[in-house]
Amino acid sequence: MCGIVGYIGKAQAPKVLINGLRRLEYRGYDSAGLAVMDGNQLAVAKAPGKVAALKDRAHAEWPEERFSRASTGIAHTRWATHGPPTEVNAHPHLDQSGDIALVHNGIIENYRALRARLESKGHQFLSETDTEVLAHLIGECNKGDLFQAVCDALHQVEGTFGIAVLSAREPGRIITARRGSPIVIGVGDGETIIASDASAIVAHTQRVIYLDDNDIAIVTAESVDIRDLNNVPVTREIAELGMDASAAEKGGYDHFMLKEIHEQPDSLGNAIRGRLDLNLGTSVLAGMGTSARELADLNRVVIVGCGTSLHAGLVGEYAFEDLADVNAEVQQAAEFRYRNPIVGSRDLVVAISQSGETADTLAAVREAKQKGAFVMSLCNVVGSTIARETGRGVYLHAGPEISVASTKAFTCQVAVLLMMALKIGRGRRFSRDEGLKLARDIEAIPTLVAKVLEQDERIATIAATYVNNEHAFFIGRGPMYPVALEGALKLKEISYIHAEGYHAAELKHGPIALLVEGTPVVALACDIPGKDKVLGNIEECRARGARILGIITEGDHEAAECMDDFIEVPACHPLVATVPAVVALQLFSYHVARLRGCEIDQPRNLAKSVTVE
Ligand code: AGP
Repeated sequence: MCGIVGYIGKAQAPKVLINGLRRLEYRGYDSAGLAVMDGNQLAVAKAPGKVAALKDRAHAEWPEERFSRASTGIAHTRWATHGPPTEVNAHPHLDQSGDIALVHNGIIENYRALRARLESKGHQFLSETDTEVLAHLIGECNKGDLFQAVCDALHQVEGTFGIAVLSAREPGRIITARRGSPIVIGVGDGETIIASDASAIVAHTQRVIYLDDNDIAIVTAESVDIRDLNNVPVTREIAELGMDASAAEKGGYDHFMLKEIHEQPDSLGNAIRGRLDLNLGTSVLAGMGTSARELADLNRVVIVGCGTSLHAGLVGEYAFEDLADVNAEVQQAAEFRYRNPIVGSRDLVVAISQSGETADTLAAVREAKQKGAFVMSLCNVVGSTIARETGRGVYLHAGPEISVASTKAFTCQVAVLLMMALKIGRGRRFSRDEGLKLARDIEAIPTLVAKVLEQDERIATIAATYVNNEHAFFIGRGPMYPVALEGALKLKEISYIHAEGYHAAELKHGPIALLVEGTPVVALACDIPGKDKVLGNIEECRARGARILGIITEGDHEAAECMDDFIEVPACHPLVATVPAVVALQLFSYHVARLRGCEIDQPRNLAKSVTVE
């Protein structure tokens, strides 16, 4: 959602903060700001737009020596939730005295009541944000001890926060706290870095501390003193990040998205490596923390997620039913907790989230735990909130996914779901021979994807034909239906073409009314069960003048005859085929967006991790 960076140490704080914001810019980027301690005074600079605009603003407004003098500061990139993306609404926000600066991720649910109470005491507000109310509240509670003032203020807050707070009266320390919005603290050599995401820390240290909900820390260049909000000391272990700084760079590609698409043979290799047992024909997923008895006794698998993760879950639904012979259903995470779900101790709830911070998915996890279900997660970010709150599950090991449009996380999610289904299935009716065959098909996924990536140039040429369309349909059946949904999401979120995914049979129940001459229909027509029906649906579209781009199985000349354009993917197990097929659509969408001159890595209105409802 938004990005937070705090620094205290020996280096030039403005430079560290701006570089850190750049690494977080994918999270939210409609305005940015920073506050540094210059001697015993607070200096603040804010600007709408990208981090580059903030850097220009700071250099325009501040004396050059401040950039070398200041060694403590906090900074923020914003994705607007309260009030438009303007300079006045950008963080940091100050208290009434101007001595306290605050940056905040999350939502203060009771900010209106707090604001009214503060206004009745003479406080005057400049912005429309909930964050400024919290800054004023901290100032109001401040009796000379910033830590205690922050504790007292947070006790009055309803909602979520990840914050960093500076006071001109207490140089040399930063107070940071979290409830529902991640805060990670990098423990360096004579310096300490606070961030909402480890990618802003990795350039400084691999040693990190993850705050838990209602932790509050007093941070100096040499120490991290963690308490709870009642000032009771808390112990949090120092973990190793295991992430290298280069992984967060573009590696010679024009966009993070293209880098991450091409990384997929490696990321899938990392997701699969060491997790297949080619002797017993099963998978080895120790993180699931389940016994064979528990898996055999499962009543149902309920998958929750949002966006791309929801689409991966839909592929998983087919996998659990086909392979594991267990009833499975996908529920939109935002809906799950409000529908009073019927889940219990024999139900496995699987939360899928690349970031591990999506608020709706986290809420679904908490509701499932409340109902006594068996909960686990598929996350990419180690130590993320959802991963820690479920306490069990499977990490994707896809590496940092920086582009807002999710690609390698999706394919790794599908690969892990297939391995989970294999494990559950082998504890039920799936034979060793069937398991061995599927395990080998899963093991081959990186190679299948590499074959599709070899067609990058050809796909770019095909994409050029579709650049000027304003509407597009994606259709598929069976496990390719979620692939159609995912392909439509990719195209719409980075090229801004209005793209919709439908079950292939669904088009004639209304949407086909929208087909006119030349309307693009991207059809998942791989040689898997249901292909002939898809070819029939394609004919219905062609009869109305649609232009068909088919994703077909290599060498399927029958299918090729039905298409205006086609991309071939290798033959493989129907569920495994979803992975190379989606990679073809990722490349197609990327090149259409590139040729349309779109932003790609940071599409308008989007954020990488949606940590608000
Ligand atoms: C997908 O390209 C989007 N970035 C978005 O739909 C994303 O998948 C969704 O917000 C869920 O995020 P998560 O996997 O981090 O929970």
